[in-house]
Amino acid sequence: MSREQAAGKLPEGFRKLAPGQRKSAWETLFLLDDDERAAAAAGPGAFELADLMVEAAVGVLPLPLGIASGFMIDGERVDIPMAVEEPSVVAATGYAAHIIAKGGGFFTEADEPVMESYVYLEGVDDEGLGRLRASVGAVQAALSSVQSSLERRGGGFRSMRVERLPETGLVSVELSIDVRDAMGANILNTAAETAKPILEAAGRGTALMCILSNASPARRARARFSLPLEVLAPYARGYTCAGAARRMTLSWALADEDPRRAVTHNKGIMNGVAALVQATMNDTRAVEAAAHAWAARTGRVRPLSRFSVSDRALEGSIDLPLALGTVGGSVDLHPASRAALRLLGNPDSRRLARIAAALGLAQNFSAVLALVCGGIQHGHMRLHAARLAYRAGARGAATREAAELMARGGIYTMDAARRAIGQLAMVRQGMITQATADQAAADQDGGPK
Ligand code: MEV
Repeated sequence: MSREQAAGKLPEGFRKLAPGQRKSAWETLFLLDDDERAAAAAGPGAFELADLMVEAAVGVLPLPLGIASGFMIDGERVDIPMAVEEPSVVAATGYAAHIIAKGGGFFTEADEPVMESYVYLEGVDDEGLGRLRASVGAVQAALSSVQSSLERRGGGFRSMRVERLPETGLVSVELSIDVRDAMGANILNTAAETAKPILEAAGRGTALMCILSNASPARRARARFSLPLEVLAPYARGYTCAGAARRMTLSWALADEDPRRAVTHNKGIMNGVAALVQATMNDTRAVEAAAHAWAARTGRVRPLSRFSVSDRALEGSIDLPLALGTVGGSVDLHPASRAALRLLGNPDSRRLARIAAALGLAQNFSAVLALVCGGIQHGHMRLHAARLAYRAGARGAATREAAELMARGGIYTMDAARRAIGQLAMVRQGMITQATADQAAADQDGGPK
């Protein structure tokens, strides 16, 4: 059987095999080549951890981990770890950090880490609604007994709200809880399950489910910057500073008007946010779900950030839910995320959310500036060139050299990558000079870009 025919043929009971057996079953059946095996390989410690973190683990998937350096956030220098597969993201973020630092950097704030968990009940009549509301003391006492350590850290139960949902007739009991430095999912789900028997008895109904909401509308973070227009001069590519700022502001208005643009505008923001969320082993899906729901809260997807011009400055701001933890879950379990948090100065959850908000705004600033002043494809393609050279067989220093050569010609295809690799080999063998290779590359479409 070829490895292409192996799909769907893992042995019965695969997930129950010992970790090592699972890994070798996968490697053997799919005839993993050396590159594939090495890429998914984990040292014994990392594999043991992977096996604890997910079911049926066979290896790890190492994402590139980069550091976007040079941020000024609330007057402090911050370097931000980012785990992401897209080539331009870390570079674009560092670029924005550098520009915005010239205007004093980012100023941020974050809400208290309060989130909501729900018990949904069926079969509750109108008198039951009153009894449910009156049960708040009993619910709070029950939660206190399971949240004593959270309460010692200043967190715990904040409020309870009972409402009937008009379409299903279900009764929703919302528990608001301050989860302090946790992302909160375990605390919130445990709280709802703890409250469930009390609520079922009070409402004389039956619980359909007990679950947190990832929406987190009360756990938001905000960041802003103010950039004197003249700072834009070196980056405005042929536009005046005021012209570049006006175009950035118009791009915000466009995203606010057209949801199709807003989705992509927000995707750019999440390029930054999700990379930090991933690097700290927080829950990327929860953060994405909350951000997109917040963006659509008026019934239309709108931009999470805003640009405007005032008093000869470009103003940028962002406001989004950010349920990020610095303890619990995988965050303080995985050595890579512990190291990422150390790089950030071991922030608490609110500080981490503020950094994430600044990062999202930086990423967005960089994308929008490039889009309205010259386009993004030129910068993207230069980064793409190194990948093409790698695919075409270049390794080590030759990969970057081939990419440089391709950038001189401005042609980014597999053929151009192979040609560049061939030219470099000829330079190495002394058959042609580097200058000849550079000229040949430039001549392909008339000159360096
Ligand atoms: C690409 O990953 C992100 C952008 O499309 C964001 C944007 O369009 O604002 C460049």
